Amino acid sequence: AIPVITIDGPTASGKGTVAQLVAERLGFHYLDSGALYRLTALSALQAETPLDDEQALAKLAGELHCSFSNGAIFLNGEDVSMAIRAEKVGNAASKVAALPALRRALVELQLRFAQVPGLVADGRDMGTVIFPDACLKVFLTASVEARAERRYKQLIDKGFSANMHDLLKDLNERDARDSNRAIAPLKPAEGAYLLDTSNLTVNQAVEQVLGWYAA
Ligand code: CDP
Repeated sequence: AIPVITIDGPTASGKGTVAQLVAERLGFHYLDSGALYRLTALSALQAETPLDDEQALAKLAGELHCSFSNGAIFLNGEDVSMAIRAEKVGNAASKVAALPALRRALVELQLRFAQVPGLVADGRDMGTVIFPDACLKVFLTASVEARAERRYKQLIDKGFSANMHDLLKDLNERDARDSNRAIAPLKPAEGAYLLDTSNLTVNQAVEQVLGWYAA
């Protein structure tokens, strides 16, 4: 079987950074499943599809023309690496991600990322729904304050404006939506290792995951 490592966790927990570095160190492929929800949300915003039109949104998700190359993300041939990181798109992503038909439409695309020599998959339901047989499952968390600070830095670094008050509000709303939705709610997968990164450097978190993988 192809080795799959799943890294799930709440918004801005740092799982993307950790997952990418783990993938690099092992020479594995990397799946940023959140990007697929962000791409669907961006395409809905562009097409002015209402964010509660489940069938139309599922269709958009099922027909996403996207590609990932050298860290850049393309939608219909356009580089949207920056555009999908906007808070507006993240918030829309977290709304459309609660729609069962849309989630189903993205399953196959996600499974296709599991290729030799292996995969590191990051998201909310990688260990619980998409790759339940993964050889290593990690649930990565951090305090709300640590996560708000990370998201703030990430947005400023990318040239977006941001303020802490709104970010904290967004984080709490998104946590509640992700944890309380009926389908694929955010929770540790069975057998997942918990990793609280509030007081860890990125490197320490990466070493911990690699250590578990090697054990
Ligand atoms: O950057 P952040 O951690 O907030 O989000 P992301 O990982 O880019 O994902 C964007 C949104 O997609 C999240 O708020 C989740 O609601 C949703 N998502 C999901 O439902 N399932 C996944 N496997 C990944 C993301």
